[in-house]
This record gives sequence, structure tokens and C-alpha cells, in this order.
Amino acid sequence: EKGGYDHFMIKEIFEQPKSVADCLRGRLNAKNGHLHLGGIHDYANKIVNADRIVILACGTSWHAGLVAEYIFEEFCRISVEVEYASEFRYRNPIIGENDVVIAISQSGETADTLAAIDLAKSKGATIFGVCNVVGSSIPRVTHAGSYTHAGPEIGVASTKAFTAQISVLTMMALMIAQKKGTLSESAYRSLLVELETIPEKIAKCLDLNPQIEIISAKFKDAANFLYLGRGYNFPVALEGALKLKEISYIHAEGYPAAEMKHGPIALIDENMPVVFIGTKDSSYEKIVSNIQEVKARKGEVIAIVTEGDTDIAEIADHIIEVPHTHEALMPLVSVIPLQLLSYHIAVMRGCNVDQPRNLAKSVTVE
Ligand code: F6R
Repeated sequence: EKGGYDHFMIKEIFEQPKSVADCLRGRLNAKNGHLHLGGIHDYANKIVNADRIVILACGTSWHAGLVAEYIFEEFCRISVEVEYASEFRYRNPIIGENDVVIAISQSGETADTLAAIDLAKSKGATIFGVCNVVGSSIPRVTHAGSYTHAGPEIGVASTKAFTAQISVLTMMALMIAQKKGTLSESAYRSLLVELETIPEKIAKCLDLNPQIEIISAKFKDAANFLYLGRGYNFPVALEGALKLKEISYIHAEGYPAAEMKHGPIALIDENMPVVFIGTKDSSYEKIVSNIQEVKARKGEVIAIVTEGDTDIAEIADHIIEVPHTHEALMPLVSVIPLQLLSYHIAVMRGCNVDQPRNLAKSVTVE
């Protein structure tokens, strides 16, 4: 059932070219400019006219929500708030009929997310679900939604569900942007083309597995890790850190790279590995200076960069080169090496990667 792999987690990481393609299938056809998410079609106008989108989720799904925030704000010009479901439900939130809620959940059973949905619904908001498990509780209480179609995710650490969530949310945002007229036809078309190439770009990242395994061996005994990224790669930094801590039990923190000088920089010395997600995008120059700041304090830098990068290659200790894509789609690519890094480190430390201590696949109690 693990298809020849040692663990479900690595099987699921390697499934991503297919799971993302499955998620896009029948919904996206870049050649003729076709994009259709059946589940949200009837409610699309509601989103187009929404005052605000509130995204509710927990854990990795919350990280997918952060990526979606950037995408919806950039392409649809709709203000987005991303909330931890557990906080939202207990703080008498301001929410009403002109708000649209997007609830994201792999399992569709997370207790806090379900309770947050109930609350938003009782105040008149329209609720969309982005879930993986068909027929689970969340899709049954939402007004509309789209499944991620990533297939069963067995490993407790979420991997292929994350990339499928971002794929669905991206399609949703592009559909809305086109209806709203907030994205030019040419930008829209080129994003569709780019989205369609993501499965092959993920496959290219998977080819890096042997190199990532070698890097993992060098860092498996570290006590701490810092993950830094900016813009679209900031949520990827959070996700990389979460993956590492949950399965390897190494303390890791993700930060927006610019926040480093407001505190975490104090931690940096020769024993602190810092993972930078520094792909070629609008914040590239800024990331290069952040890396210089870490190197000046003797931190060990592992950098995820775009193929052909030279500036970071010169200063980082280790580079992992991923294919280029539009910056809004980069999380789908740049997260892959981080999943692999945490997997190998956990295996090398003898951890139970598929069932880490204290964690459950679906958190049905608050
Ligand atoms: C991380 C992880 C958890 C879940 C969180 C939400 O790898 O598995 O953080 O992402 O418990 O679960 P769902 O998406 O099922 O609501």
C-alpha cells in the first residue's frame, strides 16, 4: 500500500506531480483559456462583490490560506484576512452577510474549523469549503466548495494536500479576478499556462531528492532551525518549519525574512542553520541582503533558489535549485525541497515520520 516507498509521507511527496495534475484536471485548460471550478460557479458573484474574504483554517491548511491571501489580494483586489479557526471562534468576530468565508481543511473534520464555520454561518456569511476528504463534515455544512482531489493522505504531516489546496485556491482567485476584471487578459492567460506546467516543475524538484538527502545528513543533529522567506515564500517558510518540527522534533521557526532583525537575528551563530527561500522574484535583492546578514554572523545557510542563480550561490553554504515560475505560483514548487528535507532529517533521526508522537491526522477535539 506504500507502493514500494518506506513511508506514506515520502510516497505522498512523490505523488504531487500527479495529485496537482488531478486537482487541475477538468478544471483548467490553458490552451483555450478555460477555467471552471464547478463547486463555486453558482456563488462566484458573491465573491466578486464581497467586501472581504475571511479564510479559516488550522496548521498547514492555514499556511495554504496565507498563500491564498496574497493571491486574492494581488489578483482580485479583495481584502483578505486569514484566521486561525481556534482564535476566530472565541473572539466574537466581526463578520456578516457581505463577507465570504473560505474554510480550508484536508480532513474536513477539524473541530475548531467546524466550530468557526458554524459561527460565521450563523452571522450570515457565505461559506466555501476547500477540503480533501470527500463527504467529510466540513463540505456538508458549507454553502459551496471545491474538493482538492489529492487522494487519501495517510502520513500525519500534510504534503500533497497543501499543494492541492493552493492549486484550488489559485484557480478560484483567477476565476474571480477574470470576472471582476482586475487582471488583464494577457496576465490571466499566462498564469493559466504557468499553472498547467506546475506538475512538471514539481517533478523536477523531486529529482533533487538525492542531493537533499546529502544536505539532510549534514544537519540532522542540529538543535534549531530558522526558515526565512519574503512575499509568497513567507508562508512557505512557516510550512517548512512546521514540517520539520512535527516529524523530526527539531525546534524550528519560520519568519518573514525582514523580521529577522527585530529579534531572531540574536539567535544566529555557527550552530544555527537558516533555510532561505530565495527564488527570483520581486523581493530577491532583499533576500540576498538578508542572507549576507546571516553569513556575517556565521549562520549556516541552505538556500532554495531559482535554477541558474548566481548571487545567492556565491554566499550560501548549500543551494537547492528549483525551476522558475511566476512568483504567485512559486510556493507550489519551493515547498517541495522543504518537505523532502524534513522527511530525510526525521528518518535519519529514527523518528516515526508517518505517525509522529502526540499528533493525530485529524484533530476532532479542540
Ligand atoms: C501539519 C498538519 C496539521 C494540519 C491541521 C489541520 O502537517 O497535519 O497542522 O494541517 O491539523 O488539519 P486539516 O487540514 O485536516 O483541517
